[in-house]
This record gives sequence, structure tokens and C-alpha cells, in this order.
Amino acid sequence: MTTKSKVAIIGLGNIGKTIAQNTVKGNRPVYIASRKKEDATALAQELGNLATPSDTADAIKNADIIVLSVWFNTIQELFEKYGTELAGKIIIDPSNPIAPDENGGFKKIIGEKESAGQLNAAILPKGATLVKAFGTLGAGSLAAAAYQHPEKSVLFYASDDATVDNSIEEFILDNGFDAVKVGGLDQSIRIEVFGDLHEFGALGKTVTVSEAKSKI
Ligand SMILES: NC(=O)c1ccc[n+]([C@@H]2O[C@H](COP(=O)([O-])OP(=O)(O)OC[C@H]3O[C@@H](n4cnc5c(N)ncnc54)[C@H](OP(=O)(O)O)[C@@H]3O)[C@@H](O)[C@H]2O)c1
Repeated sequence: MTTKSKVAIIGLGNIGKTIAQNTVKGNRPVYIASRKKEDATALAQELGNLATPSDTADAIKNADIIVLSVWFNTIQELFEKYGTELAGKIIIDPSNPIAPDENGGFKKIIGEKESAGQLNAAILPKGATLVKAFGTLGAGSLAAAAYQHPEKSVLFYASDDATVDNSIEEFILDNGFDAVKVGGLDQSIRIEVFGDLHEFGALGKTVTVSEAKSKI
């Protein structure tokens, strides 16, 4: 019998809440935490017994895969605050390094050729493994395209450590998507917003596995 990696979701806004909903729909337990414990408790009441509300430190301690569904700058804060607890964990980074611009749109807040994935990898807590995933679609599509029939939609991911790929692909599958690896973290920019494999970049839509593979 194989035991699945335990999952924690930190940050329960648009993306974190949707990942929590999809995970529970996939019949997989999940620890959920946010800045305010009451937000986790309220969401757990909606999601039922598979969701366990936690504070952030306990959620990290109890899980193997930690989804940091918070803004780019907050990931850096959490690395500093929970560096010790994050050692040995697989960290999923869905962040898009953007902020509102003066025209009602969004602009990148890091260099044009930089990616959040590579910048976060450079400051990763010792002993942790970073995976870029779950940020390729807007929250609306992440909810609406999960468990699509007859062919699933794809979530792209990037990782440098191939030993974690099976766990990541299993987690993506348990969220109702097929997983397609784009490469190492140096490919993160392709799956972040404005990238050629992002819903809000050149790709412009959700894709199936065959379409995804033709784009890589
Ligand atoms: N929204 C999208 O369509 C989309 C698509 C792709 C990727 N992303 C990326 O996903 C990430 C989350 O985006 P979002 O739209 O879900 O943001 P959001 O709705 O603003 O949610 C962020 C969540 O993080 C929590 N949080 C903030 N500081 C925290 C801390 N120190 N510890 C624990 N939790 C904390 C917030 O709690 P409070 O409510 O208390 O502030 C909130 O629940 C971002 O990096 C974004 O770039 C978003």
C-alpha cells in the first residue's frame, strides 16, 4: 500500500481556497491555515472532515507538501519565519510576481527576465525543495476546469529535484488536473503570468495534455 504525501495549504484566498476545495473533491485530506485561524476554521466547516484547520506552524509540521498560496513577498516572509519547520518539506510556489499598475492592469514587480520561482529558490530554507505549480491558471479556471470531462485540463509545473515529481503529479491529479512538467525551475518564467504557458500569457486558455505537450 502506498501512502500519499500529506498536504498543507497556507493562505486561503482565491487560490488557496480553490486548491483546498479541489483537494477535498479528490478525496484527499488537507491541513488548512491562514493568517487568521478563524478563516481556516470557517473553511473547514464548509469542506467537511477531510479538511483540518491549523495554525501555520502546525500545518507545516504535519505535512510533507506545503502550498504557499500567498503573495510573492509573503513567501519570503514565511521562509524567514518558518525556515526551520520548512526543512525537509516540498514547497509549492504558485506566486505570480505582479502588482496593480496605473492603468487598472498588472505589472511585473521583478526584472523582466526574472521569475518568482528562481528568486524564491535562491532564498529557500535549508533542506527544503521548491516546486513551481498551481499558478498557471487564474483562480476562476482553477475552479471551473478541475475534473473536466472527457479530457482533463493541464497544470504545468517545474522542479529541479525529480525525486519529488511523482508526489507532485499525484497531488495535481487529486486536484482534478493532469500534470505536465515544463522542466527545471529555470523554466518557471514560462508558467508564471505573462509567460508563454500561462493562461494570462501567450497560451491564453486551459489546455489538455496533447495540446500542452505540443507547446513545450
Ligand atoms: N488569484 C489568481 O487568479 C491567481 C492565479 C495564479 C496565481 N496566483 C498567485 O497565488 C497567490 C495567492 O493569490 P490569491 O489571489 O489567492 O491571493 P489572496 O486572495 O489575496 O489570498 C492570499 C491569502 O494569503 C493569506 N496570508 C497573507 N499573509 C499571510 C501570512 N503571513 N500567513 C498566512 N497566510 C497569509 C491571506 O490572508 P488575509 O485574508 O488575512 O490577508 C489570504 O488568505 C499569489 O502569489 C498570486 O500571485 C493567483
